[in-house]
Parts: sequence; structure tokens; C-alpha cells
Amino acid sequence: MPKNDVAHEPGVLEFHDRASATHARAVTTNVPARRFLNKDPNVKSSKVQLSVSILSMVSAIAIAQPAHAEGMTRDTGAPVGDNQNSQTAGPEGPVLLQDSNLIEKLQRFDRERIPERVVHARGTGIFGEFVPTTDISSLTAAKVFTPGTKTPVFVRFSTVMGYRGSPEQARDPRGFAVKFYTQQGNWDMVGINWPIFFIRDAIKFPDFVHANKPSAVTGVQDPNLAFDFFAHSPEATNMLTHLYTDDGMPDSYRHMDGFAVHAFKFVNAKGEIHYVKFHWKSRQGIEGIRPQDIPHSIGADWNLMTDDLYNSVKAHSYPQWDLYIQVLSPKDLAKFDFDPLDDTKVWPSSIPEEKVGTMTLNRIPDNYFQSTEESAFAPSRLVPGIEPSEDRMLQGRLFSYADTQMYRLGPNYMDLPINRPVVPVNNNNQDGLMNAGDRKGEVNYEPSGISEIAEQPKYKSVQTPLTGTTQQMAIHKTLDFRQAGEYYRTLSETDKTDLITALSGDLSRVTNDANKYTMLSYFYKADSDYGTRLAQATHADLARVQGMAAQLRDN
Ligand code: HEM
Repeated sequence: MPKNDVAHEPGVLEFHDRASATHARAVTTNVPARRFLNKDPNVKSSKVQLSVSILSMVSAIAIAQPAHAEGMTRDTGAPVGDNQNSQTAGPEGPVLLQDSNLIEKLQRFDRERIPERVVHARGTGIFGEFVPTTDISSLTAAKVFTPGTKTPVFVRFSTVMGYRGSPEQARDPRGFAVKFYTQQGNWDMVGINWPIFFIRDAIKFPDFVHANKPSAVTGVQDPNLAFDFFAHSPEATNMLTHLYTDDGMPDSYRHMDGFAVHAFKFVNAKGEIHYVKFHWKSRQGIEGIRPQDIPHSIGADWNLMTDDLYNSVKAHSYPQWDLYIQVLSPKDLAKFDFDPLDDTKVWPSSIPEEKVGTMTLNRIPDNYFQSTEESAFAPSRLVPGIEPSEDRMLQGRLFSYADTQMYRLGPNYMDLPINRPVVPVNNNNQDGLMNAGDRKGEVNYEPSGISEIAEQPKYKSVQTPLTGTTQQMAIHKTLDFRQAGEYYRTLSETDKTDLITALSGDLSRVTNDANKYTMLSYFYKADSDYGTRLAQATHADLARVQGMAAQLRDN
């Protein structure tokens, strides 16, 4: 360290008056003093004098410092003397390489962004708790449902296609991801605000996302691309009908339901299996923004969803959702004219919903990045008593989330506080980038006679009977249109009008005639009134739509 670099000698700028030491540390970061010191060739001999004159110079500045300010440090914990001026070679010279505080500060800043989520990038996180209301131990061994327990949760709501910071008013499903920090490890229920999805096979997901994300050429979302994909994916007709209702534009995260969408398996202590679907019912009701009100809403506040949720919690009005399940015995899977493990289908109301618990959201995270951005949800994160079903979309999701998170956050992302289980983690995984785990000992393998970690055979996964050969074939019972029509007919006249307004708005922008008519034929096949109104709103030839719809099979 050069002799005259007194600014790096903590003693020099420390004030003799200990009572003002806290202020003094903050004050030493202020510039005039540092400049002055660096210029003084006799700095060693003039320390006391300097301290006095600096004291008078900075005392005025000190008034502006918060009374409780803590001493600023580098990432190493060492004090920072000056956070306003870089070290320079004299008054006119360049900045010095030795100013490692400056260099490290810029390096940290340059690396502040991590890869954005490929989907669901715009999100809002919030903490809360889940309390079970019904004993369902006959269905599942999962302890999170044991009456009398209370499980902390972290929820991340999101839009799907928009980038980080994009407007929250988007014609999009809303992510509804819940992380339960249970006594048997973390359980993630990674759902959306509807009971169904657009496609039914994971192999189509990257194409679905590409077609719906902003164009690879213009960077702007384009209905021509989206409906080009959907015209060749008739299974999306049901989901598209949901998407273009006012539910596709919720006015608040509090005003929507949540669904895990896929069926999962409940396994009880005897190893008995039931298929189950999960539904979060909002106690606040369901409200959407009508098409004519969207431009004003975006203009007024495009962070509407986050602001609404956080303002509600700040006002001690804590939103709540009741969790309901539908249960199906494996022997009944084949009884329907659709495939109950097809995620484009709802299970009928003849399978009753039973309430099993309530979730209350009540705490805003202190740190957006460490909670909302660093949280990692995955439908594969399950606990004993809950297992995946054979749903083909779910099967793909079981792989994809942890894979993207290892890329986005690194291999040790489960050590991050927001993802860390509340129970001990004992296994032989170790090392890797940014490892901060607390694994100890050298027996990091198994089997072993000296290892202190033993597998727990009672938690083996269930056995699922299989038939047939390996294959690459579509499911048998596609039934692509009927449930879309059934849903359309449940809508009020106002909801139908809003659906036609919003959907015809995007369909009218489709310049490819074949794609536009194919889409209209799907909606006509779902319900003739629905298709007729859309054809009229898009100035299409109804007879041509009817002719194409007559060619479609729905089985
Ligand atoms: C095979 C189909 C799917 C694939 C491959 C897939 C993949 C992904 C990926 C890679 C992410 C980003 C995760 C991250 O970076 O942390 C994500 C997020 C998400 N996905 Fe999917 N997804 C699929 C289908 C679905 C479905 C059907 C749903 C709804 C049931 C869904 C709901 C979500 C939600 C809510 C998030 C955001 C989680 C969060 O807030 O961090 N996804 N998905």
C-alpha cells in the first residue's frame, strides 16, 4: 500500500470521539476528505490536524446520514472508506488497478442478472401457511394433511409468456406455484389458474412456447404464429376457450383459483393408490378485466397484480384459498369416454370435490431476488404419500424443472434459503458449484458398513402395472372439442360476449386464411353458437366454417 494512501488506513479517519464513531465511519465515505488526504504529501505528520479539519468539513455532511447507519463493508467484511471516489493516479490521472473495492463492486454489479426463467419469468412471491381441515389418511400418508399440523408455504404467482418486468395484464394463464415446507421434505404444487392445459404431450411444449413467445424476428408476440401452432393442435380448443374469457385477464392474483392440472397419485400407509386432482378455491371470488377495460388498466398500473396482492397483505387483509380434491380409483380410469390422465380434460362434477385444507398468505418477502427469483419449483418435488401419475405432460415436467434450475441457479440451488427444506438433508451428493451444504464425513457412498445414512425402504415408490410395448402414438380418446363446448355453455351472456370480443380480436389478425378457418371450425365443432358468433365477428364465411367443422371427429 503506498504511504500516502491513508484512506486505506482505518485509523486515520477514525474520530477520537468514540461517540461519533458510527457517524464517522459513514462520513469517511464522503469525498472531500479523501481527495484532500490523497493530495497531501506530508500526510503522516498531519494526521491529527487533518482529522480535525476533516471533522469540521464532514460534520455538515454527517447531518444527512441516518442516525442508525451501519458501517459500510466490502463483501469480505472489511470497512469501506470511500464509496464515492475511485482511487486515481493524482488529480488528473487514470483510475488505479489497485482499487479492488471499485473493481469488485463493478464485477458484482455486472453479474447481478441470472438467466430469466424460460417461461413464467414475471412473478410475485409471498409467504403463508397451509392448515389441513380433514383427515384423509385413508387416502394418503402425506403428513402435510395430518389434522393439527401447520405447514409454512411460499407461493409464486406469475404470467407465462412475458419477460421479467412485463405488464401483468396479459392474455395468459397465471402460474400458481406453491412450495410446502413439510416435515417430510418440500412438496411443490406447480399449477395454474385453470384445471386444464393447451397440449397433452411434453414433446410439444418447446414448440408451444416458441409459437406463443415474442417472435424470433420482431421480439413481439404474434397471433399469426400462435394460431399457426393451435390450428395444428386441436387439443388446445378447451384451454383457448378459457384463455379468452375474462378469467384470462384476472384483475388480481387474489381473484383466481388454482389447479395442479394433472392427476397425481395418493398412496396411503397400506400402499393403496387413488388418483387425485387438486383445486385451490379463492375465498375472494374470481374477477377478471373485461376486454374494453384492459387498455386503461395497463395505463393505470401495469404492476396491478403485485400491487394488489402486497397492498392487501400490508393492510392485514390476508387472502385465503381452500384446497379441494377429486379422487378416482384406478379401476375407474377406463370408465370415461375421455382419458382422465389427459391434462386437456377436466374431471366431471360427478366426481365430487372434497375440502381438505386452507392456505393463508400473509407475509411479503424482504428480498425479491432471494425469494421470487431464486425460488425453484418442480412438480417432481413430492413427499411420501403423493406420487406422479402417468400423465404424459406431467412425465416431461418431472424432468424439465430441475434441469432448467440447474442451468438457471446452479447445481446447489436447493441450498438457497428459499428452496432449503426445513428438515435435515442426508445423502451422498456433494460438492459442485457454490456448494454451501453442511454434509460431513468421508463415507460419501452407499452401500457401506460404516455409513450413518441408511435408506428407508418403507418409502419405496408404488408399483404400477403396465401393458403393451414401447411406442410413439397419440392417446386413444382425444375428445378435443366437447369439453370446450360444455364450458362455453356454462358462461353467462356477458362472459360469452367478452370471450367472442377477445378471441375474435386476435383471430382477426391471423392473415393465413387456412389457419383462421381451421381455428373457427374447431370452435364451431365445440359449440355451433360459439363458432357462428366468432365467424360473424371475424367476417368469415360461415358455410365454409360449417363445412370444415363437419369433417372433424371428436372421439
Ligand atoms: C411438458 C410441459 C411443461 C414443461 C416442459 C414446462 C417447463 C417449465 C419450465 C422450464 C419452467 C421454468 C422453471 C424455472 O426456471 O424455475 C416452468 C415454470 C412453470 N411452469 Fe411449466 N412446463 C410445462 C407445463 C406446465 C403446465 C402444464 C403447468 C401447469 C399445470 C405449468 C406451470 C408452471 C408454473 C406455475 C411455472 C412457474 C413456477 C415458478 O413460479 O417458478 N407448466 N415450466
